[in-house]
Amino acid sequence: MNIHELKQEFKKLYGEGEIRVFHSPGRVNLIGEHIDYNGGYVFPCALEFGTYGLVRAREDKKVNLASTNFDLKVSVDLDNISYKEEDDWANYPKGVMKVMMDEGFSIGGMDILISGNIPNGAGLSSSASLEVLTAVIVDTLFNEGIADRVALVKLSQKAENTFVGVNCGIMDQFAVGMGRKNEAILLDCGSLKYNYAKVELGEYTLVIMNTNKRRALNESKYNERRAECDEALEILKKEKSINALCDLTTEEFDKLEALLEKENVRNRAKHAVYENERTKTAYDRLNEGRLLEFGKLLVESHNSLRDLYEVTGKELDTIVEESLKVQGCIGARMTGAGFGGCAIALVKKDEVNNFINIVKENYAKIIGYEPSFYLSGVGQGTEEIR
Ligand code: GLA
Repeated sequence: MNIHELKQEFKKLYGEGEIRVFHSPGRVNLIGEHIDYNGGYVFPCALEFGTYGLVRAREDKKVNLASTNFDLKVSVDLDNISYKEEDDWANYPKGVMKVMMDEGFSIGGMDILISGNIPNGAGLSSSASLEVLTAVIVDTLFNEGIADRVALVKLSQKAENTFVGVNCGIMDQFAVGMGRKNEAILLDCGSLKYNYAKVELGEYTLVIMNTNKRRALNESKYNERRAECDEALEILKKEKSINALCDLTTEEFDKLEALLEKENVRNRAKHAVYENERTKTAYDRLNEGRLLEFGKLLVESHNSLRDLYEVTGKELDTIVEESLKVQGCIGARMTGAGFGGCAIALVKKDEVNNFINIVKENYAKIIGYEPSFYLSGVGQGTEEIR
């Protein structure tokens, strides 16, 4: 649906009057995977597709939530917000509103219509998109838009951690809220310092490949990986004063790794430390326009996520392997939490159609169903559309 159609839909639901329109993107991570919660560098960017939010303030304390993607409509009283399984998708905006109230933001009743273009369960951060969208709406409508954007990003993450109960790091909400057109963000998740880098891919383009294996973050082994990293950190801290695994250089890690007796724990920590260095190098290579080397780092990242971190699985491994066999593809890797969801590939622009056809066919032969492909430029972070 385009914005005009969405406004018609909004009026059907809530009647005539002023409507404000907001947009919040999805994201992909170029490199730096599973290290946001290990104090490492990540390098994500916002996408051009995302979530629309149409909204009108109400005089009372009621928030009505509807979506063009789901039949379920939810009404909540702001004085009485709690997590409810049956509220499904509406728990994300509810959680953000609750956290904002707890943190002293003003808020009033609203009629809201959500419409998302991010395939959900694909690992392109449809939930972070909805969270930051809600935070920006509440800040704009009731707080004169004064909040610092990073503060809105942090409270969106807090809502996901404490209200929805998914122990994610900060990368997704940061990419969604702080994204800039045509730029990726190198974010140091330890200090939250960040730099933008132009995504100039020359004769190449980014292809997003959905394995169509659904990935449900809270059901996955995500929290188990976090616990394994914490276990490694506790052991290494006894030898060296560090706050996070990614405070270590690869040389330092190599000297200490024997302390980690359990193989799984050692492997997880090794991935974190090496991925962190890879991400910094990848940022430099992209800035220098050395795309072939950038592509190689993407592949190394995938291999480490497959062999050391063990979060890929047959579908992601197949799509990456099949991609790398095709002419014109100079790098590919899983993106996001893993266990399904999406991978990205860097492909020569004039080979893209051929690339998609071949990967689609070969993946379907091996896995039994087709993947989906999306071509998206790098988009802008959450904003009001005027
Ligand atoms: C999910 C989480 C992020 C990050 C990635 C893995 O997307 O929400 O915080 O940990 O997985 O890099």
